[in-house]
Amino acid sequence: MLSNQAGDGKRTSLHGHWSSKMAFVLAVTGSAVGLGNIWKFPYVAGENGGGAFVLVYLACVVAIGMPVMMSEILIGRRGRRNPVATMELLGQEEGSSKHWRYVGLLGVIAGILILSYYSVIAGWTLTYIVKSASGVFVNASTVDVVAELDAFKMNTGQMSLVHTLFMGLTIFVVARGVERGLEQAVKFMVPALLLMMLVLLGYSITSGSFGAGIDFLFTPDFSKLSWGSVLEAMGQAFFTLSIGMGAIMAYGAYLPEETSIMGASATVVAADTAIAILAGLVIFPLVFANGLQPDAGPGLVFQTLPLALGQMPGGAFFSTIFFILLSFAAWTSAIGLIEPGVAWLVEHFNRSRQQSAIIVGGAIWLLGFGSVFSWNIWRDATFFQGTVFDNLDFLTNQLMLPLGGLFIAVFAGWVMCRNSTAEELGGAGPAYSAWRFAARVIAPIGIFIVLFFAIKNVTA
Ligand code: PFF
Repeated sequence: MLSNQAGDGKRTSLHGHWSSKMAFVLAVTGSAVGLGNIWKFPYVAGENGGGAFVLVYLACVVAIGMPVMMSEILIGRRGRRNPVATMELLGQEEGSSKHWRYVGLLGVIAGILILSYYSVIAGWTLTYIVKSASGVFVNASTVDVVAELDAFKMNTGQMSLVHTLFMGLTIFVVARGVERGLEQAVKFMVPALLLMMLVLLGYSITSGSFGAGIDFLFTPDFSKLSWGSVLEAMGQAFFTLSIGMGAIMAYGAYLPEETSIMGASATVVAADTAIAILAGLVIFPLVFANGLQPDAGPGLVFQTLPLALGQMPGGAFFSTIFFILLSFAAWTSAIGLIEPGVAWLVEHFNRSRQQSAIIVGGAIWLLGFGSVFSWNIWRDATFFQGTVFDNLDFLTNQLMLPLGGLFIAVFAGWVMCRNSTAEELGGAGPAYSAWRFAARVIAPIGIFIVLFFAIKNVTA
């Protein structure tokens, strides 16, 4: 194992540092904002009846997501190593056990599993860039866009190709390293995506059934809310913020001492939530105006937007730009998913960054075929939650991330001493006390209750 203890006793990261606070905020936002906001949030909200689900999701973001994100960043910055080594080091340093490393390992595995299907859906967005640009959706009907997606889902060869392409792009950026790779990729994507969503919102307000969309998203009907939906909302909060698996911990390891963890977390949480809600505000008015179903599942965004944009002047252009930006958003998130595994290989097995990116990326690429086949040749081979894709999604979002988050909150709140966490969070004040209470009590109890009741219901 390489040492990262500098002469003055301060640890530094072996992978370099962010060039500025802004670069860190952008990188974490780039990891947070992705398919989770624009592809996943609308479709899971749609499947779970809208309003009440959205309310639980927002509550989880604020009461659990925010304190867990701060915990991850502070742990990462204190350890300055990959999540596995950091948890092991701090576990010993704080007088507990080196076995906390298994929390880091759980995160590495979660990242690998998530990216295996994330890359497949990112491949769909790459495909939709080409489809949009070639004018396939110009004046298309609802039946046409549904048929287009169905045909693509059955095309095993093409889906394999775009999944391969996306993993290639991810490996490429990660192999280049922190400074040159990660930062540059996120710098322009987040503002551009926000702008595009605002343009689409304008269109949705003028051409969609805006009232019906608002109603669906914000009028809670708690009779539609099962424990399963609550778990899904909590899982979505973890997934969308990239927390519970060490990705933010790995990014925190590159964070300069003086940056405020609280301020950075608040900015990221606000930006991520705003983009998800914006996506909902764009999608649902268009769903209702075009006779689509809100519970159409993972295909929702791939049907709604091409259909709506195909009817507007310059729609092929806007649709192309939209899917380009969505691909970028997926790309910067994929980097966060693979980073814990790559950093671990570099430090623990003394591999080069290039080698590590290729080894971890190659394994993820292979695993991804389970999800490619879930839409075609294996679509009837269902078990437990459904296809391989459905099971990976359930296992990672609804079990591994909340469990990871639970351990991280307990570690930061109970295992680390007050001095250590106060030092990282800029001293003990009211904001620090609020964080500590959330990390020690609200987050662990909240996660435990939701997991307990949801699992009891699934197995009942
Ligand atoms: N937050 C990303 C999204 O919403 O698309 C997904 C993700 C990225 C999860 C990175 C976890 C992670 F480490």
